[in-house]
Amino acid sequence: MLREAFPCLHQQVNGKPLVYFDNAATAMRPQVVIDAVTDYYCHHNANIHRGVHCLSGRATDLYEQARASLARLINAPSPDNLIFVRGCTEGVNLVAQTFVRERLQPGDEILISHLEHHSNIVPWQIVCQQTGAKLKVIPMNDQGELVLDNFDTLMTERTKFMSVVHVSNALGTINPVKELVQKAHAKNIPVMIDGAQATPHLKVDVQDIGCDFYTVSGHKMYGPTGSGVLYGKAEHLDAMPPYHGGGEMISKVTFEESIYNKVPAKFEAGTPNIAGGIGLGAAAEFIMDVGINTITEREDVLKKYTEQALQGIDGLRILGQAQHKSPVFSFLIDGIHPHDIGTIIDHHGVAIRTGHHCTMPIFQFFDVPGSCRASLAFYNTEQEVDILVESLNQAKAMFA
Ligand code: ALA
Repeated sequence: MLREAFPCLHQQVNGKPLVYFDNAATAMRPQVVIDAVTDYYCHHNANIHRGVHCLSGRATDLYEQARASLARLINAPSPDNLIFVRGCTEGVNLVAQTFVRERLQPGDEILISHLEHHSNIVPWQIVCQQTGAKLKVIPMNDQGELVLDNFDTLMTERTKFMSVVHVSNALGTINPVKELVQKAHAKNIPVMIDGAQATPHLKVDVQDIGCDFYTVSGHKMYGPTGSGVLYGKAEHLDAMPPYHGGGEMISKVTFEESIYNKVPAKFEAGTPNIAGGIGLGAAAEFIMDVGINTITEREDVLKKYTEQALQGIDGLRILGQAQHKSPVFSFLIDGIHPHDIGTIIDHHGVAIRTGHHCTMPIFQFFDVPGSCRASLAFYNTEQEVDILVESLNQAKAMFA
């Protein structure tokens, strides 16, 4: 059973078997990912792209094989379309500062959506402050879906870029990213997609989506923390200036000037998270071995089961009921603060996240400070959902 591949799932918390429903915050790692990281440190530990010695060659090969695995996972045309980053946050900041900033004049516009994580809001606010550009927001409805009726009018001749989340971390909504990209491209607006919550759940094909940039977060897709990749179209990456200056991103340095290395090295200054990158490659291989369709099908079953089970709890309200969503449930229970619920059910071994989930504007829309969030992965079980429901009922009983 695939669940066996994840060692951290098999433990007791507060004297109860762990029920891990905080996968949107960070997923568990399978043993193959842990082994890949350990193997690098135990057997191949060396810096990459720098040494002529054997270990450096082996470490470089492992790192570049990882890049190739990620390229296959998201169907990038080439591994050279991928830049290793710390995660989606760094991916968005990189694009904001090296691709978008120089395109902006005062009064220009950047389009994002109401469903964004703070990491796809704040970098754009910073670039707006730097340039005098303005942020515009695609609205959402009560179901937590984007309202696209007036989408065409939101894109004006001043719109210079659009950045939209693929799957909402707070509500689970899956956005119609291919359609959004097509509409934006029809108006010559380049598009970035924040894929943090997509690669663990869905088939992602960047060529099919057609986006200009796509960010992937390692630790959401069973890989190491502090790892991720940014996909970019080759013509953009070639034309963009570097983000960080330092070693490895240059081909020649004098005191007068530096000549930059080619992509992707141009964007990878300094010694990177080598073990993290190798572990992320192992996570990509793991997903492809299990099969993303197998994952999606299993999660669909779990999602329906969980939805029905939660709807059976009196006084429980699910926020975000999009037609297309991943197995993420934001919910409130009448009269009980989300933090109290989270704390009580932790005593039953159940881990959920409570609060605003780094998406304050979503909760401003619903006019609540935050929610409880149960976010599932394919390794969760119906029995765990039953334990969640039982523990929520006990929390309710305590406050009755
Ligand atoms: N973005 C992460 C979450 O959704 C931290 O919890």
